[in-house]
Amino acid sequence: MLSSQKEKALVTGASSGIGREIARVLGSQGCDLVITARRKAELESLAKELTNRHSIEVKVVVSDLSEQVGVENLIRDTGEIDILVNNAGFGFNGEHLSLNQEGQLNMIDLNIRALTHLARHYGAEMKKQGSGKILNVASIAGYQPGPKMAVYCATKAYVLSYTRALHSELKKSGVSVTALCPGFVETGFQEVAGMDLGALELSGAVPAEKVAKTAVKAMRKGRREVIPGWLNKPIPYANRLIPISLNLAVVKRLMS
Ligand SMILES: NC(=O)c1ccc[n+]([C@@H]2O[C@H](COP(=O)([O-])OP(=O)(O)OC[C@H]3O[C@@H](n4cnc5c(N)ncnc54)[C@H](OP(=O)(O)O)[C@@H]3O)[C@@H](O)[C@H]2O)c1
Repeated sequence: MLSSQKEKALVTGASSGIGREIARVLGSQGCDLVITARRKAELESLAKELTNRHSIEVKVVVSDLSEQVGVENLIRDTGEIDILVNNAGFGFNGEHLSLNQEGQLNMIDLNIRALTHLARHYGAEMKKQGSGKILNVASIAGYQPGPKMAVYCATKAYVLSYTRALHSELKKSGVSVTALCPGFVETGFQEVAGMDLGALELSGAVPAEKVAKTAVKAMRKGRREVIPGWLNKPIPYANRLIPISLNLAVVKRLMS
């Protein structure tokens, strides 16, 4: 922990959804926070809410993390931290060839490049300190290829694979690295992705507040990965048992 004896956490994508709820959980645990995203008003409103509720400091950094300069400015404005929550991310729903080229490359820049840049930077700092925690937000989509969400699922497979490897490399260093792998969660994600959750998806959806509590608990225990929601937990095991052709057909239908 930093010398102030008070934990400090950086949460990316804190202006809505899962990131906002993780910031709320960490704030309730007395962590000072740096919250970041592109929407300033949402971040400022969260900062006000959290400083009114808890005796913590909350710094707002407005940044577009799909740009390298945005990541560099965030690192410069944040300083040292004990906890990194690499949550900012988005997806697009649709056939790969019909989706916008620039948007999909932006997705790779945010979901993969910015996440790796931040984990590499703060991972090295934490290793020097001999303590720290990194929570990378992957997805249940990281366990399978996703027709109609090809790039998104591939980015989350990267996050899961990268996190598992980093968890192993840093095991004895005092730094823990955890992948959060949610299934459906009703957030701003669906609007950005251009998808509606049908009755089936909604019935299995886990509230963002619950996802955040589960995530922070697993991160504090130093677990390698965590899947919130009992309906989601068997998915990786089922994927290993069924043929890939069947898996692809099921996912394609779900994404339609
Ligand atoms: N919802 C689900 O069903 C689900 C399931 C599995 C995994 N996930 C993952 O959970 C994470 C959070 O998503 P969510 O569901 O909470 O969706 P959300 O409500 O849309 O939140 C996404 C967050 O990322 C930020 N963001 C997007 N583009 C950004 C950029 N270029 N630079 C900086 N910040 C950016 C957004 O803030 P601004 O728009 O203000 O920049 C927002 O705070 C994502 O990594 C997502 O892939 C979601």
